[in-house]
Amino acid sequence: MDKKLNELKARLQAELRSVQDSEVLAQIKNKYLGRKGELTNILKEVKNLAAEEKPRLGKLANDIKFELQSLLDKTEKIVSKPSGAGVDFDPTMPGSRREEGHLHPITLVQRDVEEAFAQLGFGIYDGPQLESEFYNFSALNIPADHPARETQDTFWLENHNLLRTHTSNLQVRMLEKYGAPFRGIFPGRVFRYESTDASHDHTFYQLEGLMVDKDISMANLIAVMKSLLSAVFRTKVDVRLRPGFFPFVEPGFELDIKCLVCGGNGCSVCKQSGWVELMPCGMVHPEVLKFGNVDPSVYSGFAFGLGLTRLVMMKYKIDDIRLLESGDLRFLRQF
Ligand code: PHE
Repeated sequence: MDKKLNELKARLQAELRSVQDSEVLAQIKNKYLGRKGELTNILKEVKNLAAEEKPRLGKLANDIKFELQSLLDKTEKIVSKPSGAGVDFDPTMPGSRREEGHLHPITLVQRDVEEAFAQLGFGIYDGPQLESEFYNFSALNIPADHPARETQDTFWLENHNLLRTHTSNLQVRMLEKYGAPFRGIFPGRVFRYESTDASHDHTFYQLEGLMVDKDISMANLIAVMKSLLSAVFRTKVDVRLRPGFFPFVEPGFELDIKCLVCGGNGCSVCKQSGWVELMPCGMVHPEVLKFGNVDPSVYSGFAFGLGLTRLVMMKYKIDDIRLLESGDLRFLRQF
C-alpha cells in the first residue's frame, strides 16, 4: 500500500502541473478524491488492514489525502483567476497618474499675439500652405526673374506650385476676398529649403499682419508694433528699426529686438550680434494693392511678417530652433 499511495501522489502531482482550466481540474479531483476516486478507494481499504499495519498506513494515507487536497485547492486558485489580476490587489492604493498633454510653446505665444490683435480690431485668418507661385511671389511684386526669389529658398512642387515660403502669400488672397478696408493677422507654418542650424529650420512659424484703410501711415504701423511687443513680452524690450528691402513694401523696414537669450552679449541665436530680426515690415506696395483689386489712390496700408518662432525663442530663451519641431518630450514638458 505504501507503494500505491506514493505512486498515486506522484501521478496526481504530475497531472496538476499541466492543468489550465477549472473543468479539467474538477475531473482530476473527481478521479482521485470523488466517491469512487482512487484515493478514496485506498482509504476504504485501510480498515481491512492487519492491526499492526493500520495505524502507520492509515496515517500515511490521511497525510497524503491532506497534502493532495491542499495542492488541488492551490491549483484551483491559480486556474480560476483571470490572468493579470493579482491576488494582492489593493483597492485603497492610489492609482497611477495619467499624463496630460498641454499646448505647444508656439501655440501659447500665438494665442497671446492673437489676443493682443483682436483687441485692436484685427480678425484672425488662415489660408493654404500649399500655394501657387502667383500668390507666394508674383502677386507680391516679385516676378519670375527677380533676385528676391533667391533669398527665399523654395520647396517647389509640380505645376508651379510650392510650399509657401512666408505668410505673405495671404496678403493678396485676403484683399481679393474681403476688399478694403481690411485688418487681419494670419499666423501659420511656412517652409524653406535650406540647411538647418541653431537658428534655421526648414519649417517654422510666421504671423503676418495686414491693415489697409484710408490714411494709413507709418505712425499706425509703429503704434501697432509697440502694443504687440508689450503684450507678448510683458517687459521692456529694446528695439531698433533699420531700412529693409522687400518688393512688396515701400518703404520697408526691419524691426530688430535686443536678443533676450543673451541680453545683447552675443550668442548662437543672434549670431553673436546681440540683435535679432523679429519683424520685417513696411507700407504695402501700390502694385500689391492693385493685385488685390484695391485702388492705391484711395487706400494705403501696412504689412508685417512677425517671426513667430523667433518670438517664442526670445520669450522662453530657447537657444536652438530645431527643438521646437523635434517632438522631444524632455523639451516640451518644460512649458
Ligand atoms: N514675408 C517676408 C519674409 O518672410 C516678411 C515681410 C512681411 C516683410 C511683410 C514685409 C512685410 O521674409
